[in-house]
Amino acid sequence: MIKVGIIGGTGYTGIELLRLLHNHTKVEVIAISSRSEAGKRVDEIFPSLVGSCDLIFSLPDDIILNECDVIFFATPYGVAMKGVGAFVKKGIKVIDLGADFRLNDKDEYKKWYGLDHTQDELLLLAIYGLCEINREKIKNANLIANPGCYPTTVALGLKPLIDNKLIDLTNIIADCKSGVSGAGRGANKATLLCEVSESFKAYGVSGHRHYSEIKQELSLLAGENVNLTFVPHLVPMIRGMQATIYVDLLDSDVDVQSIFESAYKDEYFITVLGAGNTPDTRNVRGSNFCQIGVQKAPYGNKLIVMSVIDNLVKGASGQAIQNMNILFGLDENLGLKQIGLIP
Ligand SMILES: NC(=O)c1ccc[n+]([C@@H]2O[C@H](COP(=O)([O-])OP(=O)(O)OC[C@H]3O[C@@H](n4cnc5c(N)ncnc54)[C@H](OP(=O)(O)O)[C@@H]3O)[C@@H](O)[C@H]2O)c1
Repeated sequence: MIKVGIIGGTGYTGIELLRLLHNHTKVEVIAISSRSEAGKRVDEIFPSLVGSCDLIFSLPDDIILNECDVIFFATPYGVAMKGVGAFVKKGIKVIDLGADFRLNDKDEYKKWYGLDHTQDELLLLAIYGLCEINREKIKNANLIANPGCYPTTVALGLKPLIDNKLIDLTNIIADCKSGVSGAGRGANKATLLCEVSESFKAYGVSGHRHYSEIKQELSLLAGENVNLTFVPHLVPMIRGMQATIYVDLLDSDVDVQSIFESAYKDEYFITVLGAGNTPDTRNVRGSNFCQIGVQKAPYGNKLIVMSVIDNLVKGASGQAIQNMNILFGLDENLGLKQIGLIP
């Protein structure tokens, strides 16, 4: 059995890791941390786990973590940057769900996160864990930077078009929507029920942290600089994320549907919907799937790509487990086969 530790076990991605790992036949979670709940039973804080989990929250510096084969950091940015090094030195694999190792450029990290990046060597070591793009590199990694939820949704929606050089890379618009769990479990006025229900709004219009990550990954895919407009919105639902992406086709006659189908035919977690269909976030709720629909605008060369995921699963904890499966040579979908919850 692979011994797993989770740092940040009281957050939404931490508890989602526990939920998903419960269905995984090759792992045992031996440690889960919380500074605020240390000493309490996990199922006391999360009664959904009564009968399935005997763990007790420990502090994030508990020595039991040194017995793990892999540790997930489900913590805010800045935490993994300080804590990862000691585990990597001991040969423990680390998967960081936060942003500390996603941006290759330290200046960009400072610009968007307001912190100096102090871990040059770890930054060089880290592999960006978008499984459908970096699978080969992930296999031998020691430190995985698990991608952000918006970057996952957008990059998977654009990969077939960029790989096949089908679009104008200077004019991409990613109009994105997220459920409120994307903001984490910490108390915050902006995510109160009365603030978010029966309404929705754009945020981060003049600059959002995920902009830099999306631009970096699309540019790496294209082998040249990609320009995009990215506007996130907060919508009144708990889970789910949609990217509606507007691009200009270089040749408006190209059969985009078959290009997407062929690009993803061997990808278990990517579903290309039939021609004319639009994805719906609820169809991937609780699952690690990404569903994609493509449609041409009725005139001109505009193509609309719609990509949906569950922000807590393919956008965070599910993809982190997919990365773990690749790291340990397991079937990539082990523990992750559940389909979306309907209704
Ligand atoms: N929510 C999403 O949809 C989503 C998607 C993709 C990526 N992410 C990223 O995943 C990470 C976790 O997100 P989340 O939504 O689960 O956050 P969250 O709900 O705010 O939970 C954060 C967790 O980290 C722990 N923590 C906070 N500061 C810590 C510290 N200094 N040392 C050790 N533990 C600390 C907290 O527990 P204690 O304070 O009790 O220790 C809590 O368990 C973030 O970096 C986030 O950006 C989130």
